[in-house]
Amino acid sequence: MHFQWYPGHMTKARRMMQENIKLIDIVVELVDARVPFSSKNPDIDDLAKNKMRLIVLNKADMADTKITDLWQKYYEDQGFFVARVNSRKGTGLKDVKAKMETACREKKERDKKRGILNRPLRAMVVGIPNVGKSTFINSFAGKACAKTGNKPGVTKGKQWIKLNKNVELLDTPGILWPKFENQQVGLRLALIGSIKEEILNITEMTGEFITFLRESYPGVIRERYGVEEEGTNEEILEKVARERGCLMKGSQVDTEKAARLILEDFRALRLGRLSLEVPDEQ
Ligand code: G4P
Repeated sequence: MHFQWYPGHMTKARRMMQENIKLIDIVVELVDARVPFSSKNPDIDDLAKNKMRLIVLNKADMADTKITDLWQKYYEDQGFFVARVNSRKGTGLKDVKAKMETACREKKERDKKRGILNRPLRAMVVGIPNVGKSTFINSFAGKACAKTGNKPGVTKGKQWIKLNKNVELLDTPGILWPKFENQQVGLRLALIGSIKEEILNITEMTGEFITFLRESYPGVIRERYGVEEEGTNEEILEKVARERGCLMKGSQVDTEKAARLILEDFRALRLGRLSLEVPDEQ
């Protein structure tokens, strides 16, 4: 399978982010809690050099809680602030604010030593497409936080959402490009729906997903589709197709339709909360 990206518009996005990042103190990096490694673009380390960093494990409601615990520790051990959030429901936002407050205190100390006047901590959200950046920002903006408007020294037209008297969040996120380090990363990003499906072979992709499920979450396929998890992936797909009435003309099984069904079920949480990667394997 081949995954592609289009550097043209990403170059513009990168330039914009470089401009915006100059204005901020803390980078709030959203990753998908189901794939906290694959959905993280390491280029941000370079772009955000010397900035404080908060990693938000978003869509935590869709991930396996125990594995999310491991990821939280993994990133905390690397010196990041880490919070886990469900931006749709607003769960975990208090913790985000608390972590930012801590960051703010650290900044105040540093500013004081340098004789810099106290000013609010400025934050910016970054992340690859579809990790929930807009939902995250809106969940703050929707909570009656006053927008602060333009400020001296800040590019005209930028809006800041006041989270409290000490912390302000830029209302436009920085968009990072997904990384295509290897096939595994590409596959996982495709599974969570971060890569356009037209360029993918659904049956092949679901085959890989079935392999993963059989190894890491045995019983999930059996429970959902009422089929035994034996035989090749192709055979399992055929069984699911038959069970779910995915048939073509002449009553031949439609494995592509079955593959699509499994993917949709995964994305709609009908297979339960699943994490696609664990820290020590990365
Ligand atoms: P982006 O700006 O990073 O591109 O992502 P965006 O906020 O548009 O979110 C992408 C999808 O992820 C949206 O679903 C959004 O509702 C969902 N989402 C965001 N955060 C969370 C979360 O914490 N938990 C869950 N379960 N979902 C989340 P959608 O189906 O594309 O749109 P909609 O049906 O919500 O309108």
